[in-house]
Amino acid sequence: MTKNMNTNKNARHYLEFKDFSRDEYDYLFERMRIIKEKFKRYEPYLPLHDRTLAMVFEKASTRTRVSFEAGMYQMGGSAINLTTGDSQLGRAEPVEDTARVISRMVDIVMIRTYEQAKIKRFAEYSRVPVINGLTNEYHPCQILADIFTYIEQRGSIAGKKIAWIGDSNNVCNTWLQAAEVLGFHMHVSTPPGYPVEPERAGLSGNANYTVFANPVDACKGVDLVTTDVWTSMGFEAENEARKKAFAGWCVNREMMAAAKADALFMHCLPAHRGEEVEAEVIDGLQSVVWDEAENRLHAQKALLEFLLLGRVD
Ligand code: CP
Ligand code: NVA
Repeated sequence: MTKNMNTNKNARHYLEFKDFSRDEYDYLFERMRIIKEKFKRYEPYLPLHDRTLAMVFEKASTRTRVSFEAGMYQMGGSAINLTTGDSQLGRAEPVEDTARVISRMVDIVMIRTYEQAKIKRFAEYSRVPVINGLTNEYHPCQILADIFTYIEQRGSIAGKKIAWIGDSNNVCNTWLQAAEVLGFHMHVSTPPGYPVEPERAGLSGNANYTVFANPVDACKGVDLVTTDVWTSMGFEAENEARKKAFAGWCVNREMMAAAKADALFMHCLPAHRGEEVEAEVIDGLQSVVWDEAENRLHAQKALLEFLLLGRVD
């Protein structure tokens, strides 16, 4: 096989959660478990020894950057980090041209950017797989790790109830897509003026979520409570207005008490204690945020392996 001879029609991308089927997720969650075990045992696993990942960050990152870069190195590959400031993207080189060039030199690309339309354009002109490392609309890699974390702690997520409290943002949209793909139910509570936008979330219907005006009601009887910042990257100009609008949507002990006794708390991080979550909740016994963050590494490695090598067992 000749390197990079894929046409863009053949390359498999991961731009939204619904890009993979339930069956493929079952496979991926099992690969995450196996890859994590190898990592914990210091067992070398170098299936990507000749492969290169290019990462393009147009927004800040800690977890996504470290998990992709460390993940590539740990699997024997290499990673290149590009930002708007140090590449020609910041000087208005068209995204189509950037995609054509980068994808002739590397094996896979991860992009964190603003509009989903931009990553879709990049993927259209890329010869190699493109991964969404967060856009204004979606954050599929995050929910990949979150659901793996849920499975590790509690088993299958199918049929479970998950409360989303706060902003109807990229992470919320991705949870909503995941509910459709994997068969669970979301209880969503967002402040007036920040409703779920089904079309923007890429939903096929409303069967997998229920909207609650009161966040405590949304938490009643759920298996997992999750939230995220009130102001996502790119929306900083709205920060003061959002602080006022979201004041009643801080995940607190009353909300956790309304959930099932063994309910978990998750947050993709970074978190603002005292805004979207009380310190007593994120630092409390039901919180699994550090496992959730670590699992970004194992999830990313399984994703890279799948997109580059296909099914390996
Ligand atoms: N959760 C997440 O994606 O974190 P970073 O912004 O640090 O990558
Ligand atoms: N919704 C947040 C997630 C950060 C990981 C943002 O987009 O800034």
